[in-house]
Amino acid sequence: MPANDINKVTILKLRRQKRENTKTVLTTAYDYPQARIADGAGVDCILVGDSLGMTTLGYKTTIPVTMDDMIRHCEAVAKGAKKSFLIGDMPYMSYQVSNEEAVANAGRFVRAGMDCVKVEGAMTERIKAIADSGIMVMSHLGLTPHTRAKLGGYRVQGKTAKQAEIILQQALDLQEAGCTFLLLEGMPRESAEIISNELSIPVYGIGAGDKVDGQLVIFHDLMGLFWEFKSKFVKRYCEAGQIMQAALTRYAEEVRSGEFPAEENFYAIKEEELEKLLGGGNWKHDEVIYETDQGFPTNHSATPETVTIKNRSSDSDAKKK
Ligand code: KIV
Repeated sequence: MPANDINKVTILKLRRQKRENTKTVLTTAYDYPQARIADGAGVDCILVGDSLGMTTLGYKTTIPVTMDDMIRHCEAVAKGAKKSFLIGDMPYMSYQVSNEEAVANAGRFVRAGMDCVKVEGAMTERIKAIADSGIMVMSHLGLTPHTRAKLGGYRVQGKTAKQAEIILQQALDLQEAGCTFLLLEGMPRESAEIISNELSIPVYGIGAGDKVDGQLVIFHDLMGLFWEFKSKFVKRYCEAGQIMQAALTRYAEEVRSGEFPAEENFYAIKEEELEKLLGGGNWKHDEVIYETDQGFPTNHSATPETVTIKNRSSDSDAKKK
């Protein structure tokens, strides 16, 4: 993509949307077609989330997802998305160990085409290091899956005044440290609203009510492509899994019945080429039945000597042209 594509969503546009109280739309994508679909729908931001582990790789949690997994999928998304602002999710243990590792790994996301990285938790020092290196960071607070065991499981956060105050203070510290965006996950709308109002950076929510600056819903959740569970905050906009399965069921039926492939799916061969093909050899093009021991036709490859050739009428030859 050209560096100055005027249609590209930039940090300037996202900041303006906060100032003008225009809601920002975020979803996830993990591969090229999903990125094209999301980008084509005009979403502002695409997160290549480590939810990849559950939506795409079949893991039970995000913990097994590696840097290499993330980079491979970020590259695919970056090829498919022409306009959306792209956020790469730093996976478990890619930023916790040291500032140096965090910065180096954040750099890999930028090389893979991301505009920004996302880091879970109140990791102020790490976020400062990444931001100081010139890479934009989205901080992720509230229900943070990497530390779900410490939180006692996937539990809504900020439900008490004390909890909400702690998260607000963490958010202010992260803003001070240089993070560019904040994402709040799994919080009451009132707590999220207070945090959003206190911060000058854009604050987005996933399951954090409607008073934040924008909404993130995971692609597979809103499309009906994730079946393990459905969180309360998720709205399904279609049942893509059912639509796709119905299409495949029909395909299977048509292959088995011989309805597919049909005339419009065949490639043509010129008459003179066909004549040449048929003229000199033992082959006849029309109905070639390979005889098996059982006497059933099979489509296994065979030499001319092993086939029985049954010619169709010239009328059917004409149809094949
Ligand atoms: O990986 C992801 O998609 C996320 C969202 C749940 C915020 O981190």
